[in-house]
Amino acid sequence: MPFLSDTLARVKPSPTIAMTNKAAELKAQGRDIIGLSAGEPDFDTPANIAEAGGRAIAEGKTRYTAVDGIPELKRAICAKFKRDNDLDYTPSEVSVGTGGKQVLYNALMATLNPGDEVIIPAPYWVSYPDMVLLAGGTPVTVACGIETGYKLTAETLEAAITPNTKWLLFNSPSNPTGAGYSHDELKALTDVLLRHDHVWVMTDDMYEHLAFGDFRFTTPAQVEPGLKDRTLTVNGVSKAYAMTGWRIGYAAGPEPLIRAMAKLQSQSTSNPCSVSQWAAVEALDGPQDFIAPNNAVFQRRRDLVVAGLNAAPGVTCPVPDGAFYVYPDISGCIGKTSTGGTVIADDEAFATALLEEEGVAVVFGAAFGLSPNFRVSYATSDAALEEACGRIRRFCEGLR
Ligand SMILES: Cc1ncc(COP(=O)(O)O)c(C=O)c1O
Repeated sequence: MPFLSDTLARVKPSPTIAMTNKAAELKAQGRDIIGLSAGEPDFDTPANIAEAGGRAIAEGKTRYTAVDGIPELKRAICAKFKRDNDLDYTPSEVSVGTGGKQVLYNALMATLNPGDEVIIPAPYWVSYPDMVLLAGGTPVTVACGIETGYKLTAETLEAAITPNTKWLLFNSPSNPTGAGYSHDELKALTDVLLRHDHVWVMTDDMYEHLAFGDFRFTTPAQVEPGLKDRTLTVNGVSKAYAMTGWRIGYAAGPEPLIRAMAKLQSQSTSNPCSVSQWAAVEALDGPQDFIAPNNAVFQRRRDLVVAGLNAAPGVTCPVPDGAFYVYPDISGCIGKTSTGGTVIADDEAFATALLEEEGVAVVFGAAFGLSPNFRVSYATSDAALEEACGRIRRFCEGLR
């Protein structure tokens, strides 16, 4: 009898972790490595939020809480949905978990049966297909190339829907591309979904507040109220509030689904950290005025990186609408040989050679389901980004 479960065998180890480990190994050997693979802001948690967490400890708010969130946080989340998205939810339609990741996982575990399909536009956040597999469902990935701005279209969505489709797992602005869907682009998708009333939408709005220039964030239940009773809107405080380590995510949706997610959480992790929940109340209810200056920094870095990468031969880097990633296409580099003698057969070979020869750690596109590309996280200093872009340019100029 095998010791490890069959379920685990369906899931692959994270390729991003392999790259991160390799970078750490080289750093430990004394190499000068620039890491562009981290998926988190380099800002500290704003002081008022951190202080709210400290106050919660001092006041002894350190015990178990209601399984899927304290009433104060659920009320703050309802107010946030009204303020930012014009969506009306009551606390009983809200679930709080240990990061957006747990909330997504709970929703998939609570709803998927063998044979159920989940449509995942690719490139996708690395965890989506594996979470679906862990939950016993079937991920159906749909390639969304650079020609459609890495976005799903009405036609490709329509073609992917089958009688077994349970969810569309949607993410805007996207990790890894930064692509954001305009109101009209989203409306084209929700029009398709209106015609298929067995399909639900799980929208991952984690990067809502990281939106630049003319891009205006909107979310499926807001664009099409007719879909609200089959939409789970997932969000969290990790990215916009620089709170990745606090581990608070949340979702709003139909009450029976929220109850099912709470049942699962009650038999696995129970409540998310009590102290973090109080900090999240302050994040959502407190001043939001640091978001705009943070975004101005991110937008400046985005422009720096897009210009720097487009100057590298064989690299085409679209300008993203949000998040803190770019996802350049490297078709022009494939098949060439690096200065160090590596044949760039695919984007994994590109990323590995770039790390070994120039000391720049990026994540290769195959990890996100669309190649040949790589992902850069520009949530790091301007100086590091300038140096990294210079090294990437030199690496590409050396390809023969
Ligand atoms: C698209 C996307 N969704 C969800 C998450 C998970 O966020 P959290 O830290 O709240 O679990 C991430 C984190 O990288 C993400 O990029």
